Amino acid sequence: MSTTASALKLIKFSALAALCAWTAPALAQNAGAGAGGAPSTGGAAGMGGMVASGGTAGDGGGETATGGVGGMGVGGDTAAGGMSAGGMGGEPASAGSTASGGEGGSGGMATSNLVSNGTFDTVKDPWWGNASDSDPEFPADQLLEVVEGRLCSTMTQAGKNIWDVVVGYTGVALVPNQHYRISFSASADIERPMKVKTGLNAAPWTDYFITSVPLTPTAQTFEFTYLNLRDDAAAQFQFQMGKTPGTVCIDDVVLEPVPAPVVPAYQTPAPSGHPFKDYKALVKIGTAVDTPIFLSNPQHNAIVAGEFSMITPANSMKMNLIQPVQDMFDFTDTDGLVAWAEANGLEFRGHPLIWHTQAPGWLNDATTLGRDEMIAIMYAHIDALMTRYAGKFPFWDVVNEAIDSVEGTWTFRPTIWHDRIGMDFIDLAFQRARAADPTAKLLYNDYNIEQMGHPKADRVFELVRDMKSRNIPIDAIGLQGHYFVEPSGETALGVPDMQAIRNNMARYAEIGVDVHITETDFRIGKPLDPAKTELQNKFYAELLQACIDAPNCKHFTVWGLSDLDSWVPSTFAEFDHAHVWDAQLAPKPAYFAMSAVLAKYNTDGTPIMGTAGGAGMAGMAGSAGMTGTAGTGGAPASPAAPAAKSEDSGGCSFASRTSGTATGLLAAFAMLGALLSRRRKSQRR
Ligand code: XIL
Repeated sequence: MSTTASALKLIKFSALAALCAWTAPALAQNAGAGAGGAPSTGGAAGMGGMVASGGTAGDGGGETATGGVGGMGVGGDTAAGGMSAGGMGGEPASAGSTASGGEGGSGGMATSNLVSNGTFDTVKDPWWGNASDSDPEFPADQLLEVVEGRLCSTMTQAGKNIWDVVVGYTGVALVPNQHYRISFSASADIERPMKVKTGLNAAPWTDYFITSVPLTPTAQTFEFTYLNLRDDAAAQFQFQMGKTPGTVCIDDVVLEPVPAPVVPAYQTPAPSGHPFKDYKALVKIGTAVDTPIFLSNPQHNAIVAGEFSMITPANSMKMNLIQPVQDMFDFTDTDGLVAWAEANGLEFRGHPLIWHTQAPGWLNDATTLGRDEMIAIMYAHIDALMTRYAGKFPFWDVVNEAIDSVEGTWTFRPTIWHDRIGMDFIDLAFQRARAADPTAKLLYNDYNIEQMGHPKADRVFELVRDMKSRNIPIDAIGLQGHYFVEPSGETALGVPDMQAIRNNMARYAEIGVDVHITETDFRIGKPLDPAKTELQNKFYAELLQACIDAPNCKHFTVWGLSDLDSWVPSTFAEFDHAHVWDAQLAPKPAYFAMSAVLAKYNTDGTPIMGTAGGAGMAGMAGSAGMTGTAGTGGAPASPAAPAAKSEDSGGCSFASRTSGTATGLLAAFAMLGALLSRRRKSQRR
């Protein structure tokens, strides 16, 4: 087929979204399965299939990460409705989970296949290929031909990005709120990743669904389902393979509508019998969620709905996705998440309004804008988002990550917003946000600001105190809470220092500012080992306890449910295992450590037996309290702690609320915690 390059508008690639690495959605993979659309190995709940391991090393992380809009030869920052496509992610696709096996999966080629000639018996039409020549340094080249009944794309010259050489199919009719099953066989002459996507057939080439699959010389059948949110009579279906020379062959392509997978019933594994959300009078626990894995993965959904009180969109509200073209807002993915949250009784947090990262290309490219024009853009963005969801979102991260170290001084980060408006852009953003939705609580959100005494934390505190003193409407500080342990097992001095975190929370209380833990996770430098796991358990439990103990901290969000859909491996190549559920969506010890903290309280927030509460329990991941001993290492309770949180006598027995087994489990955690020597830990996002 001839290429359609002429019909394609090339969008300049923005390097700004280096963090924008998407972790692959659920995927089932039948290694070596033959042709003919082998049924998924997935189990009843759409779970299962083999774990598809990640893309090749070296493709991981940042450089491809930019909401790659795919589209033929297009790059870009305008990417990806809801998916912040991008990074080939060192370990993208992990455990299969939404495989359609059991529900819509079918053996053999389905009659409802939306693509024709997916078998390539003799001809390639109507499939087409495209190689981008947009970057003179990377003039991609492609030979597309049918070889022994498979469609083979030979890249004689690689492109700069994976989407610089594609095989595509134009004109698939997609219906909103419909699940689709995608199945295909693929192989390559060398191990390499390939992406598969559905998306808009024109600029801004928005991805509706995109995932990465690891190809090997042996043909494998890949299969998964996803929930489509878009109404598009002529969507594009595409394979992206452009970054490495060599040959990729595909065959037996099926894209067909299937019934929605059944959401499994959920029962909390917490020994107390209470899921996190039962304690919302004490602390509201939330998680970040991302499309498409979120809306497509029934087990994931069951856990989030069963355990959590709040969700934050991990990407769908980033400016490159929600305003990919100036004044063209794409609320599809956020609306989908909001509808799901409403249906399941979860609060929704707006994140983020004004941020320099994951900004759209049109904004990054408009380098000549003056202050007034930039303010107008900022106001238009705030108004559009906050008006749409007025009264629905109780919390908004109005400004994200605006302070940084510049030549050794902690000050305003040089960004498109700061540089073109001036340092009052923060004030202006908060004032506009307050006017747009007076009912919403407004946050400044940042990382490495958790601990009092850290220069950035102190600088941000000054910023907030100054704003308060000038009556700029800021209600809360978002402590992102991204912590880690090095691959070596080492951590840097005093991090996380729970006392410093407690002191930080307390000083915000003094100036009338609430504290939210907004994005916490504890990533582990590979390889995982029991000592690192124990540090993680301790971290999650202690941070949760610190929040519970602080009178001004009632919100605690973890940044992603599980190691399956983690942002970590594709962003920090040497790290993984950051979350509270594992890649098979099973609760990790950190989950039980957090549950143990909560189990010290009644669900109305009062301490059990009138003895729990902050102070004595804090030090050892809640363990001191759990075993009924005094809270060794615990921080003193905040003097201002409310009764339900601060009536603490240092010990706590919750045996009346737990089974013997559960008590033993919790005691084991306590012992493990106690065995830990005080580690030196480091903090970095
Ligand atoms: C992350 C998302 O989780 C990733 O999927 C994306 O590739 C990059 O951004 N601080 C923030 C979040 O405020 O929005 C970031 O989320 C993580 C760091």
